Amino acid sequence: MKKLFIIGNWKSYKTTVETKDWFQQILHLKSEILESENKEIILCVPFTVLSLAKSLIQQYNLPIKLGAQDISPFDEGKYTGEINGKQIKEFAEYVIIGHSERRRYFGETDELLEKKVSMAKQYGIIPLFCVEGSDIVVPQGVDIVIYEPITAIGTGNPDTPENADSVCKAISDKHHNAFSLYGGSVTSENVHSFTSMSSISGVLPGGASLIPDEFAKIIRNA
Ligand code: PGA
Repeated sequence: MKKLFIIGNWKSYKTTVETKDWFQQILHLKSEILESENKEIILCVPFTVLSLAKSLIQQYNLPIKLGAQDISPFDEGKYTGEINGKQIKEFAEYVIIGHSERRRYFGETDELLEKKVSMAKQYGIIPLFCVEGSDIVVPQGVDIVIYEPITAIGTGNPDTPENADSVCKAISDKHHNAFSLYGGSVTSENVHSFTSMSSISGVLPGGASLIPDEFAKIIRNA
């Protein structure tokens, strides 16, 4: 059975109260999550709930790993407002870098993204690097690349599994057999059509990961 990454991206959603509620609901669905030994379940939450999510995962003994959604390109220092790798490492094993929302709304460039990848690596945090296509620059040292076509993000209009598979294959071929994943309007209904493709090693649901029941179904159906 191939290894699959199921990565929830909460984006800029959920307060501490909402986070507690999500985890209480996922606890009831724990058996569905536990059945999946070949699946690495990762939840990328806002910085403000990373600490809480970490303690809830420990308290409920859930097989979920944590990811951050951004990382400073700088090490610790006088950088007001930034969260650096050393700080993230206390809570998370993964970090999303290069999401199209960061490129589009925050002007993140290839050069900046390369620095972020290098900071993540310096602290042993695994970059989950997002690209819009196989022609986008992927920095050295990235082992997990997520293909997310802009037209599919948050639109309910996913790519076809066949096209996603051929883009993922091109990415893996180009980048030393990196794991290639698909993201963009993934649901419990369509997840298997993607994960059953030979070059797709997992998915990154955004909106669907906010609903515990739907996220558990995605894990089960993947
Ligand atoms: P979506 O988001 O599943 O809501 O389309 C995916 C993403 O942007 O990571």
